[in-house]
Amino acid sequence: MVGISSQCFRYLTSTLPPRFPSFQASRFLTLSTLSSPNLEFENIEPTNNNETSSKKPISYFPKRGQTLELVCESLAFKGKGLCKVTDTGFVVMCDRALPGERFIGRVTRKKGNYAEVTKVRTLTPPLDLVDAPCEYAPYCGGCKTQNLSYEAQLRAKEEQVRDLVIHVGKFSHQELELHGIMNPIVSCDIQFHYRNKMEFSFGPSKWVPKELLHETRDSTENYALGLHAPGFFDKILNVDKCFLQTDPANKVLAAIQDCWRDPQLGLSPYDVHSHLGFLKHLMLRTGRDVTTNNPEVMVNFVTSSYEPKLLESLVDKVSAFPEVVSVMNNVNTSVGNTSVGEQEYTLYGKSSITETLRGLTFQISANSFFQTNTYQAEVLYKLIEECAGIKGDGSEIVLDLFCGTGTIGLTFARSVKHVYGYEVVPQAIADARLNAKINGIQNATFVQGDLNKIDENFGKNFPKPDIVISDPNRPGMHMKLIKFLLELRAPRIVYVSCNPATCARDLDYLCHGVAEKNLKGCYKLTRLQPVDMFPHTPHIEMVSLFSRQSKWAILTINCGSVGKLSSKWSNFTWSTGVQNPLEPHLGQVIADIWVGVSSTPKRGITSAKPDISKSWVFKVTDGKTRAFC
Ligand SMILES: C[S@@+](CC[C@H](N)C(=O)[O-])C[C@H]1O[C@@H](n2cnc3c(N)ncnc32)[C@H](O)[C@@H]1O
Repeated sequence: MVGISSQCFRYLTSTLPPRFPSFQASRFLTLSTLSSPNLEFENIEPTNNNETSSKKPISYFPKRGQTLELVCESLAFKGKGLCKVTDTGFVVMCDRALPGERFIGRVTRKKGNYAEVTKVRTLTPPLDLVDAPCEYAPYCGGCKTQNLSYEAQLRAKEEQVRDLVIHVGKFSHQELELHGIMNPIVSCDIQFHYRNKMEFSFGPSKWVPKELLHETRDSTENYALGLHAPGFFDKILNVDKCFLQTDPANKVLAAIQDCWRDPQLGLSPYDVHSHLGFLKHLMLRTGRDVTTNNPEVMVNFVTSSYEPKLLESLVDKVSAFPEVVSVMNNVNTSVGNTSVGEQEYTLYGKSSITETLRGLTFQISANSFFQTNTYQAEVLYKLIEECAGIKGDGSEIVLDLFCGTGTIGLTFARSVKHVYGYEVVPQAIADARLNAKINGIQNATFVQGDLNKIDENFGKNFPKPDIVISDPNRPGMHMKLIKFLLELRAPRIVYVSCNPATCARDLDYLCHGVAEKNLKGCYKLTRLQPVDMFPHTPHIEMVSLFSRQSKWAILTINCGSVGKLSSKWSNFTWSTGVQNPLEPHLGQVIADIWVGVSSTPKRGITSAKPDISKSWVFKVTDGKTRAFC
């Protein structure tokens, strides 16, 4: 095991593990994290390699440009390999380093309590290396772990969730494991071609791997349509086929790649530096015809201006595919990189495609959110239903926060009294209402609004929910919403998250409160379920179930011998459970405590209702207490 000096440990304990860079606050690197049993640092021979600086006196902070011999311990934030410097334990992160890989890395950046390195060369390959089927895998930012076995990917994701919930969520390992809260990650049976939506970018300068830089190209050959090279907002890795998207979408991509550079078409890619050029993005979405079950493809060209004539030949080409049922044009005149247009035009066919989920039909337009892995969304929604624990008697109210096109809420509508959905994107709300109509659902209300800007009136337009579903995007829930939920005290919250880091933070707030805002936590985390929705990528989905802590309590009384209370003052420990209208005050005489076996067979149950966030002392007198111990 790697040796850690006490000085080093003191430093590390005052920092957050750098695998969670956005949460650098007051969390600790634990000894167990530092001494992962998977690591065999003692096997690393002291290197004589000139590339490493092991001969120099050991500095705790590696210097920029310094080379280090490293072993990747695990995958962390954004799928980067987490390593520690031998001798000091200083944490470094390396893009594309995989667990078990021994390599030489060069320090490129220092970031507070960790440094970033780039891999110079591999000394010993990763433990679970496999062949990546995609030719772009070594360069593309989309699938960073295609060359790591799927089982190892799952292990790494599960470990990340656990670490975040412990370090950011402030839960102990014992709590998660012994109470059976943490469940093993649910794998995805389909590991390629699972994405129903991909967004490619056009650009005037192709990103080319170093080894091909010598090849000469004319200017249009330098035009690219593909995915951003990792770390570059202006360089595009040209992609003819993507292993994540569906086959019909790949056919369309190939057809567009085949012709869009033709000078006769007069098409130019948008340049993010000069802000000149026409074609910005190509979005491909795949759905399903609900009657025939055949794939339906939507092609969405995002352009900097509205010039339908310029797009005509591309539209003709793609609409020749029977699967293509919709060609859209989003016009975005801003200099930003977003694909949502200020204006949207239908150039061919319909303006939306359809898909089925949990037996319902959904209509999806170009800019509405829809789960991108339809197959695994079935699995995810089933889990959400399980967690929600709907009674099914039509009596319950469901609040569906961040509802998108209403998919989660609508799957519940058949078995509850009413669903109220909130979402910021107007088009998604329009789709949600339409989706309710298409499926003959009348007990669902969808409201457009920004959940980051709610005020004290929020909650007045719907009855108190029995179940809250919250499915925010990556930033998680705003403090205003956390406060609202803590005051609302709905019996159950199912939190669906695509960012375990912000989820762990919100989980801490809901369960442990927010001291600086004077908010008390009132939820108990009862289930944590990571789900792999996106194999080969660093993305992790998780479903968490929170149950409201009861205000009522069971009193465990520390009694003396049978028949007597040992003293007039006793300390009691409270845990949740029993209801009674009395609210005792500190030092109050509790006349109505009955502890014992005569009238209730459970020892230590009180009829008093304490504030469980405080520690109470009750004055108990023999005369007034019916105590049978
Ligand atoms: C992860 S998606 C979930 C959508 C939906 N629950 C589903 O499963 O299809 C997050 C949704 O939150 C919406 N959203 C993001 N920020 C929001 C905000 N401040 N207020 C309300 N909705 C927001 C997004 O438009 C998106 O539809």
